[in-house]
Amino acid sequence: MTKSSAPGKIILFGEHAVVYGRPALAVPVTQVHADVNVTNADAAGIWVQAPDIYLHAELNTLPSDHPIAAVIHNLFFLSRVSPFPALNIKITSTIPVASGLGSGAAVTVALTRALSSHINYPMTDEHINAFAYEIEKLHHGTPSGIDNTVITYVKPVYFIKGQAIETFKVGQPFTIVIGDTGISAPTKESVADVRKLWEVDKAKWESMFDKVGGIANEARNAIESGKWKELGALMNQNHALLQEMTVSSPELDKLVSAAHKAGALGAKMSGGGRGGNMIALVESDQAEPFAKSLIEAGAQNTLITQVS
Ligand code: PMV
Repeated sequence: MTKSSAPGKIILFGEHAVVYGRPALAVPVTQVHADVNVTNADAAGIWVQAPDIYLHAELNTLPSDHPIAAVIHNLFFLSRVSPFPALNIKITSTIPVASGLGSGAAVTVALTRALSSHINYPMTDEHINAFAYEIEKLHHGTPSGIDNTVITYVKPVYFIKGQAIETFKVGQPFTIVIGDTGISAPTKESVADVRKLWEVDKAKWESMFDKVGGIANEARNAIESGKWKELGALMNQNHALLQEMTVSSPELDKLVSAAHKAGALGAKMSGGGRGGNMIALVESDQAEPFAKSLIEAGAQNTLITQVS
């Protein structure tokens, strides 16, 4: 049996603008993960079992652009495995789907690692990351690549599309509470909607993206020097710009307001938006009661994560 696991992630700053070349910051969330087990099967075929998405099928019955099928086909093509071995592939995940926590990229990375190691086709992290980026295009259309990068390397990442990967230092650990609206919203749609609006008024949108990029750069400095008040204010500014970009939602805004009332140093939506998760920066000893107040305000779930 060959096993692999990959974490979730949150985008701290810069979602959407990152698709247009501005910097963004993201960190892994190891409390949630996708896990893949590959075993040799007795019966011919490649049997994929992913109970979380109600999938139990033989590879050849899946559409070729299905992200899981695409990982397997492309990996076998690259490694020149022939004939295909008989395999059972079991995929489970505790990362909520379509909620901004990187579930698709985590499944891709864990599956690629487990399968490549099972068929003795060694891949470097760089290779896995590039491979996962191609698969992300099936999930997201025009992804920036930030999800696959932070999930492959499991490190805080300062990300600019097309540039060498930089990690950033965390001056002092800080605590983020993640609140889930419970609404699943495909990133592909919000990214496509932003593109349509950008095409209509590029000057306006480029200027918003510039502001977001500036915030991401200031946030990196604040994180490196442990200036939490400043970091919180930057989260609020980033959220206001995401609202202007039309990617927030009433449910996200409600949780962000509740976060402010409950004493967050800053709060914003995270990821593709329109649903999914929001994040709040809190004093670490306040995290538990804070998470409770998000649930009282309607969050379906919360996670507390320490960024270090
Ligand atoms: O919804 P998520 O967590 O997959 O994040 C998407 C982030 C975007 O900037 C909206 C898209 C991207 O590819 O970077």
